[in-house]
Amino acid sequence: MGFVGGEDETVVMIEIDWAGEAGRLRASAEGETDWNAAVARSLVREGDKVVADIGCGGGGMAKALAEALPGATVVAIDADPDVLEQAREHTAGLVRCELASMDDGAEPLRRAIDAPADLIWASASVHHAADQQAAVDALASLLAPGGRLALAEGGLPARHLPWDLGVGEPGLELRLDLAQDRWFKVMRDSLPGSVPMPYGWTEALTRAGLTGATTRSVLTEAPAPLPPERLESVVRAFRTRIERLTGSSQGHGHGHVVSDEEWLTPEDLDAWRQLLDPDGPHYLGQRSDLAVLSVRSVHLGHAPR
Ligand SMILES: C[S@@+](CC[C@H](N)C(=O)[O-])C[C@H]1O[C@@H](n2cnc3c(N)ncnc32)[C@H](O)[C@@H]1O
Repeated sequence: MGFVGGEDETVVMIEIDWAGEAGRLRASAEGETDWNAAVARSLVREGDKVVADIGCGGGGMAKALAEALPGATVVAIDADPDVLEQAREHTAGLVRCELASMDDGAEPLRRAIDAPADLIWASASVHHAADQQAAVDALASLLAPGGRLALAEGGLPARHLPWDLGVGEPGLELRLDLAQDRWFKVMRDSLPGSVPMPYGWTEALTRAGLTGATTRSVLTEAPAPLPPERLESVVRAFRTRIERLTGSSQGHGHGHVVSDEEWLTPEDLDAWRQLLDPDGPHYLGQRSDLAVLSVRSVHLGHAPR
């Protein structure tokens, strides 16, 4: 993160350090095995021979696609070499891993996949492309006739916490979502050559020439009390989100921010510090009332036959 401008004009910039995120992306590939397997099974069709995961992160979905389609060619593509290395290790020979960026147009991606694709999956990656519509156009152009492009983007903000935690003002999780939404806008505006996309993902698929664009959303629920490992990963995810907003993960996180107060009020920040302090009396990891309720959307379009 940096600042541009004079005294009365400060522009906040966010630049994501993907190499610094590589370990977290690998952990999430490992933690989301069941979700990836279920979604992969629902997406593949008999006869699919070539599939690709673009912006593959730790390679969780690429691996699930390879397992759902034995004998098919699965290509995992990412723009960051350190992230790709994690995907290479995680997919352990099941998947071909290639370095390419959606920001460079269709040709490098086409060369990396090396054949028209029956299915392309891109999860939470297109929203990091400077021109999202251009990226969707590029991905659509890689499809074989009748091939499908699946974009996992958006859904509903997940819920984990009771509304009133007895620490800070009620509604902490909701206000964290709102802060993150403001962070997201600054992140997008900070991308060099950023182009707004003032419409939804099915519209983007349709503008890319695909037909029958529609959305399927997947609900995941784990009721309280969570098993210890799940509880730990929920707490870890909150810690990451707070670090991202406070810049306290400098050098290995999502860029840097001006001050704690930039995104969260000092009162909310103090409440989060108490909730995330393993030695304090309010530590979230000691509670039995945390849960997981999440809805993630997959937007699907079809190449004409
Ligand atoms: C939020 S992560 C999502 C990773 C994975 N798809 C998932 O859902 O867990 C975004 C990923 O997109 C990659 N990425 C960002 N910009 C990209 C671009 N222009 N072209 C290709 N990959 C990109 C990042 O390196 C990162 O691995």
